[in-house]
Amino acid sequence: MNQCFDVIVIGAGPGGYVAAIRAAQLGKSVACIDEGTHAAGSPAPGGTCTNVGCIPSKALLQSSEHYEHALHHFREHGITATGVSIDVAAMIARKDKVVRQNNDGILYLFKKNKVRFFHGRGSFAGSTEQGYLVHVDPLGKEVGHDIVGEHVIVATGSHPRELSGAPFDETAVLSNTGALALRSVPRRLGVIGAGVIGLELGSVWRRLGAEVVLLEGLPTFLAAADAQIAAEARKAFQRQGLRIELGVTVRSVEREGEGVRVVYADAQGVEQSVEFDKLIVSVGRVPHTASLGADTVGLEVDGRGAVVVDEECRTNLPKVWAIGDVVRGPMLAHKAEEEAVAVAERIAGQHGHVRFDTIPWVIYTSPEIAWVGRTEQQLQSDGVQYRSGAFPFLANGRARALGDTTGFVKVLADADSDEVLGVHLIGPMASELVAECVMAMEFHASSEDIARICHAHPSLSEAVKEAALAVDQRSLNS
Ligand code: FAD
Ligand code: NAI
Repeated sequence: MNQCFDVIVIGAGPGGYVAAIRAAQLGKSVACIDEGTHAAGSPAPGGTCTNVGCIPSKALLQSSEHYEHALHHFREHGITATGVSIDVAAMIARKDKVVRQNNDGILYLFKKNKVRFFHGRGSFAGSTEQGYLVHVDPLGKEVGHDIVGEHVIVATGSHPRELSGAPFDETAVLSNTGALALRSVPRRLGVIGAGVIGLELGSVWRRLGAEVVLLEGLPTFLAAADAQIAAEARKAFQRQGLRIELGVTVRSVEREGEGVRVVYADAQGVEQSVEFDKLIVSVGRVPHTASLGADTVGLEVDGRGAVVVDEECRTNLPKVWAIGDVVRGPMLAHKAEEEAVAVAERIAGQHGHVRFDTIPWVIYTSPEIAWVGRTEQQLQSDGVQYRSGAFPFLANGRARALGDTTGFVKVLADADSDEVLGVHLIGPMASELVAECVMAMEFHASSEDIARICHAHPSLSEAVKEAALAVDQRSLNS
């Protein structure tokens, strides 16, 4: 007799584990299956985000930022630090510890919420009167078995896209996995794709001493960001020594000795050949559905491998849902989590909801970049009349005290109603400041609303208030 559950979740990334917990909170019997495994064989729930994504990248960004501060910025505070050096093995060991704390935290939460965790691969194996049969393959440890779920939530995430002719070997040609586990600082690091991963991980290894060259296929830098923010970011990154080449066409990637040779046509079409010790390929990610047994039950998957869903995450099969990176929309952990909660609530008969146009974006470089809502370019192409107000961190007292005055905040508001349509930030703690802007947009606030709210002094958040005041040309401090 197969064990039956109200809900089976396949995948325990930020989408899957949050869906499992929320469904259990709502009184459902829940199983969650995840195949993530540490080298020693123990379970590694938490998905890309916890193991090879958000968490380890932010741990290394923090360590490398401390190093850069000790080398270059302590002096201006009157602090002398001599003999500063980096122990890469210790830095990676700390990162691994942070990852494990998060893995253990998820297993603890499963126990606390009575979610039954299966370590292994889950795949559709058919259906019965009670629901869908899901096969649990414990990956060679024991014999597999089937469980039954009335509802199934697919949360199998994504994996890095390979460049044709340059398969990941994780020694010289690295995906995010290899790039987060280097044992020494490469002298010359190439990065194909100047997107979010390229900029964050390129920054880590540049701060630690690598010469970093980013080769980007598009002619525009950070095409998804507001153009003014992207221009400011490019200037700041180039000042730091990141070399960014736009409009390149990669012709070949060949292993050469311990390293890699990349041949590419530059923006002028001139062929270039560069040697790197390590090469990160970060050209986007693809939904992960290969091991799911989708065909067994007729689950619809599109040409990219994404599970096809409507705006409420319903698939073509009754009571089968899909969330996170494996479906349409931005590949962000918080988007996966919001969909997770909404689906669990829908299963429980509630009215879960996700507002896609207020999902924030953050790039954790220095300066940090963050935004919510539409860019100026999108408003122009949508034919929306808007007013814009900006405020530089150079004029913010807290930023000056921190010694971090790069960047600005820009608020875009509807020309008639004054409703905030977008906020774009580049500068210190932009990742935290954007939360206020998301809140404002969720409540359909006007720029006048933000401008009239009391913000603590001295705080970076005053730059948001001042940018809102600037929409009406009454900024007080610039
Ligand atoms: P995943 O996290 O990919 O989890 C899917 C899980 O399903 C995995 O554990 C996988 O092992 C498991 N699985 C797959 N198939 C099966 C199967 N058949 N059976 C059992 N288990 C299976 N996003 C942010 O919002 N902020 C960031 O700062 C950020 N930083 C990132 C940095 C890097 C380097 C990378 C690569 C990504 C980053 N992301 C970030 C993106 C974020 O990691 C993803 O959007 C998020 O992890 C998606 O969550 P998910 O639950 O949909 O999928
Ligand atoms: P990305 O989509 O951010 O960037 C990929 C870049 O590669 C793009 O600029 C694209 O134009 C370029 N590119 C594509 N093919 C190319 C080619 N053949 N040659 C040269 N350039 C090429 O994808 P990335 O950086 O791989 O990250 C994947 C996803 O992970 C992101 O889209 C994001 O959703 C998520 N992520 C989020 C983070 C955050 O929220 N802070 C951090 C890291 C990743």
